[in-house]
Amino acid sequence: ARPVAVLTAAGSGSRLGADVPKALVPLVGEPLVVHALRALVAAGVEHVVVTAPADHLPAVRAACAVVGGAQVEVVAGGASRQGSVHAGLRALPPGPGDACVLVHDAARPLAPVGLLRRVVAAVCAGHPAVVPALPVTDTVVRVAPERSDDAGERSLGAVDRTTLRAVQTPQGFPRALLVAAHEAAADRAHDEATAATDDAALVAALGHDVLVVPGDPLALKITVRHDLAVARLLLEESR
Ligand code: C5P
Repeated sequence: ARPVAVLTAAGSGSRLGADVPKALVPLVGEPLVVHALRALVAAGVEHVVVTAPADHLPAVRAACAVVGGAQVEVVAGGASRQGSVHAGLRALPPGPGDACVLVHDAARPLAPVGLLRRVVAAVCAGHPAVVPALPVTDTVVRVAPERSDDAGERSLGAVDRTTLRAVQTPQGFPRALLVAAHEAAADRAHDEATAATDDAALVAALGHDVLVVPGDPLALKITVRHDLAVARLLLEESR
């Protein structure tokens, strides 16, 4: 079976300082969500459910309508990313439980098709959860929040960064397993504070191994304005 996907685009983009939801912010002429959608289509995805802010459904639908090659549906997201992914999974048409489902963030518009194919291939090879990730280049320290004051926080020392990876999207799973993981997790938490930021964590909570495959610097996440400027440069460089 061809892969299917949930594309999360229901975030507000408040940290970007834009007056439209982040997924509709343009990058070299096209909204972020359209870039991400094109990559999913290029990777052979057959059906995509896009989760959008409930009050921007028509605008996100109109933006996505320019992309052909896959069935695309736009539904309202939830209060958290986890809630949005769950809503997206429920909106997928019936299909084989062992098909690969990709969960991808519209906030990663430049994730290249090779990365998407790598994730799909690992799921098809039998892995229950696949995440792309990059080595961490900064030194990372743990802090003691209870000892923080206006001057800063107390460092508890560096974590061995050779064992750390920064996780990207798309993440891939056999569809039936991801649905089961979300159903189990929905009973535990749905608000922004307690929800998982990552789908693989929900599948891991069911006792499954998570495979980490090489990520790509192009799959950077757009969070603040600076990221948008970097993405613009990377896109121009790769053209
Ligand atoms: O906020 P953050 O950048 O971590 O969001 C990651 C992705 O999850 C974004 O693509 C955003 O649109 C999406 N999201 C969502 N529903 C929410 C919050 C975030 O679909 N309630």
